[in-house]
Amino acid sequence: MNILITGGLGFIGTNLALSLNNGKQHKIRIFDNLSPQIHGVIPVIDHRMMDMGNVEIVRGDVSDRNGLTAALDGMDAVVHLAAETGTAQSMYQIAHYNNINSQATAQLLDILANTLHSIKKIVLASSRSIYGEGAYNCKAHGLVYPGARSATQLKSHQWNPVCPHCGNAISTVPTPELARPSPASIYAATKYAQEDLIRIAGDSLGIGTAILRFQNVYGAGQSLNNPYTGILSIFSTRIRRGMSLPIFEDGLESRDFVHVKDIVQAIELALLMEEANGGTFNVGAGEPTSVLEIANMLVDAFDGKVRPEVTGQYRLGDIRHCYADLTQIKAKLKFEPKISLTSGMEEFASWVLSQPLPEDGLDKANAELKKRKMMS
Ligand SMILES: NC(=O)c1ccc[n+]([C@@H]2O[C@H](COP(=O)([O-])OP(=O)(O)OC[C@H]3O[C@@H](n4cnc5c(N)ncnc54)[C@H](O)[C@@H]3O)[C@@H](O)[C@H]2O)c1
Ligand SMILES: [Zn+2]
Repeated sequence: MNILITGGLGFIGTNLALSLNNGKQHKIRIFDNLSPQIHGVIPVIDHRMMDMGNVEIVRGDVSDRNGLTAALDGMDAVVHLAAETGTAQSMYQIAHYNNINSQATAQLLDILANTLHSIKKIVLASSRSIYGEGAYNCKAHGLVYPGARSATQLKSHQWNPVCPHCGNAISTVPTPELARPSPASIYAATKYAQEDLIRIAGDSLGIGTAILRFQNVYGAGQSLNNPYTGILSIFSTRIRRGMSLPIFEDGLESRDFVHVKDIVQAIELALLMEEANGGTFNVGAGEPTSVLEIANMLVDAFDGKVRPEVTGQYRLGDIRHCYADLTQIKAKLKFEPKISLTSGMEEFASWVLSQPLPEDGLDKANAELKKRKMMS
């Protein structure tokens, strides 16, 4: 297959290209603008990408119609990864996030609708953020989907969502794809828009589509420069600098941390299997881990000295819990997460230590949020 990977020089794209190139059966073209927020002002391309035989790298912006049209020429499939990914940043760079994520996706489909092309498949990197808060169980009401926690609730440190019907305590359960989407950030809204655009246009144009909703992805190659995403990157820099690790809320909020190799496995299955067409699939490890627990694991992986510190601070729009129900992707695509959190964290820490030590951007990013009254 000839495969175009937009955003292919990023974290997931690099890992995907290296894996697809392994057997040399595919020809890969990467289309990426080397965004300075991810790659630094003077970008350095991973030498493994430069050394690959079957990979063509084109520098371009997905919002540039002519550039994207040229990049699609001769391709059979698109893995659409290019995006702005900072949840909090999206709350004040609203038009920009809409342009790069939603509008550029609309334009990609517009090109496919109006020009001759050979694309037969599109795989979209969507996100669990489209759910907002995850699924819960209420003893009286069964499966429930609480809405976002209110500012008043967070102010009084009532961290846990309650049953939307009876107001009683609820417990977290895996979130299925059928959960009602409830994006709580502009970033999430743009990812949800991408899903609808691709699903609807793909159907009408007769192009197979597969939508993958990733949980929190980590692993070698994740951006260490971007202070707006990737809790493990942000914390790893602070551990290396001997700085404190501030943990929001009471530290028991949880995420589903999934290794990038498992994400690559899911993308390859979605790309190559007919059964994926028309489908929307969760991709995660399928298990929740609290933020405090992951921070402690990370400190251990680095033999760090400074322990995480629960601050009781919070950000508006953050969810409490969400982890993936993997029933669908396991049944239809035979997906199985393979990398355990312990081995994944060790690999991540040793990769981080091989990288230059970045500046810490967390304090600046948090100051920005405080100024905008999005964090307390
Ligand atoms: N990493 C995660 O935890 C996670 C979770 C859910 C969904 N996703 C989605 O997966 C995709 C890839 O994420 P990632 O973690 O590899 O991010 P990343 O930031 O490492 O990579 C994104 C790449 O896209 C490029 N890019 C940004 N804007 C562009 C533009 N206008 N034109 C062309 N290229 C552009 C960047 O230069 C970068 O190389 C994104 O769509 C993201 O929303 C990621
Ligand atoms: Zn109830």
